[in-house]
Amino acid sequence: MEPAENADRAEGEVNPPVAAKKVFVKTYGCQMNVYDSQRMSDALAVDGYAGTDRIEDADLVLLNTCHIREKAAEKVYSELGRIRDLKAERASRGLETVIGVAGCVAQAEGREIIRRQNAVDLVIGPQTYHRLPEALRKARNGEKVVETDYAIEDKFEHLPQPRKAEVIGRGVTAFLTVQEGCDKFCTFCVVPYTRGSEVSRPVAQIVAEAERLAEAGVREVTLLGQNVNAWHGEGPDGGEWGLGRLLLRLAEIPGIARLRYTTSHPRDMDDELIEAHRDLAALMPYLHLPVQAGSDRILKAMNRRHKAADYLKLVERIRAVRPDMAMSGDFIVGFPGETDADFEATLELVRTVQYAQAFSFKYSPRPGTPGADMTDHVAEAVKDERLQRLQALLGEQQQDFTAAMAGRTISALIDKPGRQPGQLVGRSPWLQPVIVDETAGEIGDIIDVRITRTGRNSLFAEPI
Ligand code: SAH
Ligand code: SF4
Ligand code: F3S
Repeated sequence: MEPAENADRAEGEVNPPVAAKKVFVKTYGCQMNVYDSQRMSDALAVDGYAGTDRIEDADLVLLNTCHIREKAAEKVYSELGRIRDLKAERASRGLETVIGVAGCVAQAEGREIIRRQNAVDLVIGPQTYHRLPEALRKARNGEKVVETDYAIEDKFEHLPQPRKAEVIGRGVTAFLTVQEGCDKFCTFCVVPYTRGSEVSRPVAQIVAEAERLAEAGVREVTLLGQNVNAWHGEGPDGGEWGLGRLLLRLAEIPGIARLRYTTSHPRDMDDELIEAHRDLAALMPYLHLPVQAGSDRILKAMNRRHKAADYLKLVERIRAVRPDMAMSGDFIVGFPGETDADFEATLELVRTVQYAQAFSFKYSPRPGTPGADMTDHVAEAVKDERLQRLQALLGEQQQDFTAAMAGRTISALIDKPGRQPGQLVGRSPWLQPVIVDETAGEIGDIIDVRITRTGRNSLFAEPI
């Protein structure tokens, strides 16, 4: 318990010490799951659960899962097998263990998870995390609980905010989910089914959360959403705000020096947001803007609703207002019907854009999505070969991007101790680790540094 909470209690009044229950949370998938895991931990803390990173000590094991590709989803079941053994072992010592599955596999598969692994006590979907404490009580009474209805109430409003001491312990960078769900229905993707339709959090709620983060020492906030740039809300002026306007508002909060947002859809990059990249120094020059493929035929089959040329034009416009903008992206190879020529178009697009970083995947058919029912699936060996070629090209571009930093002066947010004693690690505007001597400043400082040497992905620097 925080000392502050005990401070005003008279001696003798303090509750007898109760051994706190422990929760082990394992997070798979995207940053939104990372954020959700923290909010669930905050909610559980109110119920007396302390976090642990030793699974064998946990009274509650919570897996926050991802359904995006088959491999991600299957990993959960092998992990559950191991946890079942752990539960049995703890039971032999008279200890209770509740096993909970949260996240997108929970939403997509629901009760099926308990059918496949009977040791699971609790399945809870991403829209109902505010009901976790209640669901947990039921599970501890021996009920098998499945909570996967899309909630009508706003989960964020009902989830307790983290206590200041907890936020302080979490460092100087933070995620803040502003938007959830997706209405785009790309034909390969499960997200519209696991996260439901697009919902934006209200401005006041977001500003209040960002202020709390800033008070706890956070300097850099990354706004999150499956389609973060589709965020919109009513501002205090009564007008309709888009993400660009929201970023301007958040930049006014004392202490917040850097802002980012992810993940964006090319269709939702409006003028206001592009102008924010021109006008707002706090908005970091790094944009994750997935395109998935470079062939118009495949983009159409994917239901991305834009052409390759639209994407290139967009990148051009963004770089015109922010010339140091580094681009990041996601790619899928081997979508049904993808020919060699289609794949070449993807390589061509990559060569044109020059990515600083990118994520690429082999197409994985997901049950319930239109892509899975398409007939002209690409052979696994072809997917492998394409992925290798694409990753080689993207890897080259990433290394070129990092190598070009040598000799430059950049800003770095010092955010953690280094692996070697006497070192600190900072973060460049382009998300590269920047290694400096510990005399360069303190965690939370933003300093100007000169890059003396570059590694594969990290930068070595000296303060100026
Ligand atoms: N909202 C984001 C993407 C979220 S999913 C967007 O629209 O770009 C993250 C990434 O996983 C996607 O960009 C895509 O590259 C990849 N992905 C999604 N479904 C996939 C599938 N069925 N097979 C392989 N990769 C997939
Ligand atoms: Fe999935 Fe497409 Fe929505 Fe992104 S925009 S979450 S890829 S359906
Ligand atoms: Fe995975 Fe769900 Fe995120 S499917 S990528 S955890 S939205």
